[in-house]
Formats: sequence, C-alpha cells, structure tokens
Amino acid sequence: LDEMEFENITIDQHGPIAVLTVNRPKALNALNGTTLSELAMAADLIANDPEVGALIVTGAGDKAFVAGADISELAGLEGPFAGRDMSLLGQDAMTQLSNLPIPVIAAIGGYALGGGLELALCCDIRIASPRARMGLPEVTLGLLPGFAGTQRLPRLIGAGRALDLMLTARQIGAEEALSMGLVNYVADDPLQKAREVAEQIVKNGPLAISLVKEAVRRGLATDLEAGMEIEADLFGLAFATSDFKEGTKAFLEKRPAEFKGE
Ligand code: HXC
Repeated sequence: LDEMEFENITIDQHGPIAVLTVNRPKALNALNGTTLSELAMAADLIANDPEVGALIVTGAGDKAFVAGADISELAGLEGPFAGRDMSLLGQDAMTQLSNLPIPVIAAIGGYALGGGLELALCCDIRIASPRARMGLPEVTLGLLPGFAGTQRLPRLIGAGRALDLMLTARQIGAEEALSMGLVNYVADDPLQKAREVAEQIVKNGPLAISLVKEAVRRGLATDLEAGMEIEADLFGLAFATSDFKEGTKAFLEKRPAEFKGE
C-alpha cells in the first residue's frame, strides 16, 4: 500500500492502521474527478489487503479536511449527463469506503464542507478538532449534496437536523456537531485521537467487526423485522468462528484474546 503512487491522495501504513490523506492543500483538498477515482481505487486496494485492520481518512494541512467537490471542475463540466455522472462517481467512491469490512475513521482538522462532509459521513466514526467547520453549502451554489449527503445525513442525525443544515447551508463547529451526533469525539489532535480509537478497535475480533458493520448497513436499508433476521444470520456466522472460541477461552483464562480473523 505504502508504495502506491497517487496524484491527489497518499496512504501511509503503520502496523494494522492505514492513514489515507486527501492531498491537494492548494485547493483545500477539494475533490476533483481524479481524486474521487483514486479514493475508489484506494478502497479497493485496502479491501483486498489483509494487513490493514483500520483506516483513518484525513486531509493534508491544518486548514481543511476537504472543502467539497472541486468547484472549478464542476463549473467546467459539460454535457447532458455531466452532473449525474459526477454524482455517481462520488457516490461510488463513498460507497466503497463505507462498505470496507474494517473500521473507517474520519479525522477532521478544519473545513469539512459539501463533498468533504459527505466523505466524512461515509466513515464509521468522526473525530473533529475544535477548529473544524462543517456544513453542506451546496444550495449556495444552486446545487444539492450529490455524494450521498442527502441520504446519509438524515440517517445519522435525523431528517429535521439534516434539513436545517442542508437548507440554510450554515457552518457549524465541533461542539454543535458533537451535540447533534454528527461527530463522535472532539479532540485537539483528531489524527492522534483517531489512532487511539483505531488501536482500541483492532484489539477486537476482525470478523466480528466486519459483521457489526454489515448488520448495521443492511439493517438501515430495511425494516426492523428484516433487520433482526439479518442480525440473527450474521450472529450465527460469528458464533461458528474460531475467533469466538478464542474470545471466550481468553475471557475464562483471564488473558487478552489473540484473534486470527477466522
Ligand atoms: C475548488 C476550492 C474549493 C472547492 C476552496 N478552494 N474550496 N477550489 N473547490 N470546493 C480553493 C480556493 O479557490 C482558493 O484557491 C484556495 O482553495 C483557498 O481557499 P480560500 O477560499 O481562499 O480560503 P478562505 O477564504 O479561508 O475560505 C475557506 C472556505 C472557502 C470557506 C472553505 O474556500 C469556501 O467556501 N470553499 C468552498 C466550499 C464549498 O462551497 N464547498 C461545496 C462545494 S459543492 P486560490 O487559487 O484562489 O488560492 C459540493 C457538491 C458535492 O461539494 C456534490 C457534487 C456532485
């Protein structure tokens, strides 16, 4: 992973934790088409790399996580399907990141606006610096969020709060984001905090982690009854793993479990 060459992102791996940095600081890390394609490629590589147990997503520089889709590129797109295609390209990248079987944590150091907030929304856990500014300003450009923000935000914080943010286009700070459940933690050094949360997660059974993510994702797409069926099926899978045997054995022997992911 470390050796992959991308134009607008970097990936650094230390042990089981990989850090993906969107790296276009001159444009406050705005997501152009190339960056979106690279995010999808990175997700694919990470999904197929058994060494990576957790992914942190962040932005280069102090000023921004990601300031949105690249407005100059959007302004130059032409053709009857250009807008829809750009939306689908971004949605696809976000879906691939969101569907990773490992935990994905966003470390938000500055602006997370528009497509940048949507990138954070496709992560499992969000950690914001007290300096972070978040919002969905698309309507100020005559647009709507197009990287799944209209879908993920109401599922995360409820339709009322999501509509307020999307219709007013107002920016909120870390404390307000925390109070509405938009971010999980506020920390002076969000990248460091993200590493700590990732370290805590990777101690747990990796198959169990991926099954939790699958249960929540599939459950949110259906009703309670069908969701519970999904849960019971996935519980059955977890129950049949050697990780479960190891987890219970370690508990009874009063030692930390050593999970193998099988
Ligand atoms: C392209 C961007 C950009 C963006 C910032 N820049 N955001 N370029 N796309 N989204 C560039 C600026 O043009 C500028 O380049 C440089 O980054 C620094 O930004 P400034 O504006 O000079 O910084 P500052 O005055 O501190 O303001 C910061 C800011 C502002 C408040 C974050 O940059 C801003 O409002 N950005 C746009 C935020 C936005 O509307 N995002 C939503 C995009 S729509 P130069 O060359 O002048 O130095 C979207 C839709 C998604 O995301 C769905 C699509 C399908």
